[in-house]
Amino acid sequence: MCGIIGYTGFEQASPILLEGLSRLEYRGYDSAGLAVQLPARTAEPHPLQVVKTCGRLQALIDKTHRGADLLGSCGIGHTRWATHGIPSVENAHPHVSEDGSIAVVHNGIIENHFELRRELMSEGVPFKSQTDTEVVAHLLAKACREAPGADKTAIIGSALARLRGSYALGILFADEPNTLYAIRRDSPLIVGCVRREGQTISTILASDIPALLPLTKQVYYPEDDHIIKLTLQGISFYSYNPITRTVADITESYGAPVTLELSETAARLGKYRHFMRKEIDEAPKAVKDTVQSGLNDPSNMIFSDESLLSSLQSIRMIACGSAYHACLVGKAALETLCRIPVEVEIASEFRYREPVIPDPRHTLGVLVSQSGETADTIAALRLCKSLGMPTLGIVNMQGSTLAGEADHVFYTQAGPEIAVATTKAYCAQVAALYLLALRLGQAQNRLAEKEQAELLEQLSALPEKMERILETEPDLRRLARKLASTHHLFFIGRGMDHALAMEGSLKLKEVSYIHAEAYAAGELKHGTISLIEEGTPVITLATQPQLLHKTLSNMAEVKARGAYVICFSNAENALREGVLPLSDVADHVVSLPITHPCFSPLAAAVALQLLAYHVSVARSLDPDKPRNLAKSVTVE
Ligand code: AGP
Repeated sequence: MCGIIGYTGFEQASPILLEGLSRLEYRGYDSAGLAVQLPARTAEPHPLQVVKTCGRLQALIDKTHRGADLLGSCGIGHTRWATHGIPSVENAHPHVSEDGSIAVVHNGIIENHFELRRELMSEGVPFKSQTDTEVVAHLLAKACREAPGADKTAIIGSALARLRGSYALGILFADEPNTLYAIRRDSPLIVGCVRREGQTISTILASDIPALLPLTKQVYYPEDDHIIKLTLQGISFYSYNPITRTVADITESYGAPVTLELSETAARLGKYRHFMRKEIDEAPKAVKDTVQSGLNDPSNMIFSDESLLSSLQSIRMIACGSAYHACLVGKAALETLCRIPVEVEIASEFRYREPVIPDPRHTLGVLVSQSGETADTIAALRLCKSLGMPTLGIVNMQGSTLAGEADHVFYTQAGPEIAVATTKAYCAQVAALYLLALRLGQAQNRLAEKEQAELLEQLSALPEKMERILETEPDLRRLARKLASTHHLFFIGRGMDHALAMEGSLKLKEVSYIHAEAYAAGELKHGTISLIEEGTPVITLATQPQLLHKTLSNMAEVKARGAYVICFSNAENALREGVLPLSDVADHVVSLPITHPCFSPLAAAVALQLLAYHVSVARSLDPDKPRNLAKSVTVE
């Protein structure tokens, strides 16, 4: 929801912090700020230098002349997606203590902030913002006053013991030169160190990997509630015992840093105008790498517990947004290929409705998440585990909370995804669920060896077919220009195509702000067809041969009422099925390559993503940073 960053080293901090924030801006971009210690040569500890702006990060870059105005080599930064308090300079982070000597940046939600604010205000503490975060700065100042000279790790431990909710915090004290502190609970946080000739020369904290990549690939994934101290010499970890009010050094337990296996360019735009367009191009490789990894990488097998797989009676898939739509495609594939009952749930619903799981020990909970930090999905995972269900996390981000807590993890291989609207990661999630279906089909002898081999061959050929769809971009761009002035439209489909229609609808809405509604094609006539008028665009997904005749009837129904019908189909299938040429009922046909019906949605998804992208561009919008959105919804 927000991006936090911190740096301490021998270089000027501000330009580094701003570069890091530019790589975190997809996490939130309604305001931003920096806090930097004055250069150490100043005699007395001075209030920190704090600069904050409203709007995109560029405003902060301009105001600080790309950071040049802020001297000092130790600081923290923040880019915000507002939760408490409107986007404004006052509500932008960092938030500081009354005397300006403590600054904090925060991602998450302090759930008991109101009572803490009331307590602090009753003690005369003045508040400047409407945010939950500001209470943290004042609590730290209060702990410092109550224990003068105490070690900052004890100060942090005692102050934060009172917090309820989720947080990843970067903390800066004016009287601790070249030192940063950090701590997390349920929100993502990564810390890294830059080493030269075996010596650490700078240390960094950030919400996500892209911000660290230009500086280091040596990182740690801190555990919840561990206090992290970052200095020029390195990174140390501490645990706080609220009973004895003591701190223990647990650095040893973290061992050596993890080396990130990502290229520094992985999170760079390169020749592209937008990350979304770059990441659509990367979708075929994301699918290819995910399939290869699931088949050949012993450390990332889609599921290694053979006995559990063979005894499974049902599957419960739980996710949010596009990941939820990926699960709907996965459900269709698993039920078609394995004949195992699959239920798909929206995480924010599942976690609060006291689900009934008849046989939890034989019901696999599958949690799908690109970020691995989505609050509702993590809560759903914890609920599955409390019900006694075995759990599988299908996650894209290494070291994420969900990856750390699921019983089994499968990492999709999409690489960092910067655009807020997911494209390549969604495709990789669908590919992972296809792999699960094939693996389960094999474990439960539902798939004959020959069929299994054919399916694997088709799955392995998918990336090439996805590449071919990218070649239809000029036609999709023309179609996008036609749709750019539309106020509302429909996506319809049957079976897997309905799941695909839901994803196509979401993709278009989130980057173009055009209202779109996905509907089961057979359901439209039960009421909603009343909204069809002359020229209403209806985008029809028709990739399932066995449903083609029915879908064509639905196209004819809306066309008879004036709709502008756009059909995404493997047209050759239609002709092979002996149905009339699609162009007789569709005003515009987008041809898709033939593949196994189960895998068609993955090929079609790329076309829908391209369409959404070009509609956004045609409407002069920024597809990478849509209004009101953030990449990872780490709050409820
Ligand atoms: C995707 O385009 C959306 N931005 C959003 O629905 C996303 O899929 C959802 O928030 C789930 O995120 P996750 O995969 O990181 O859990």
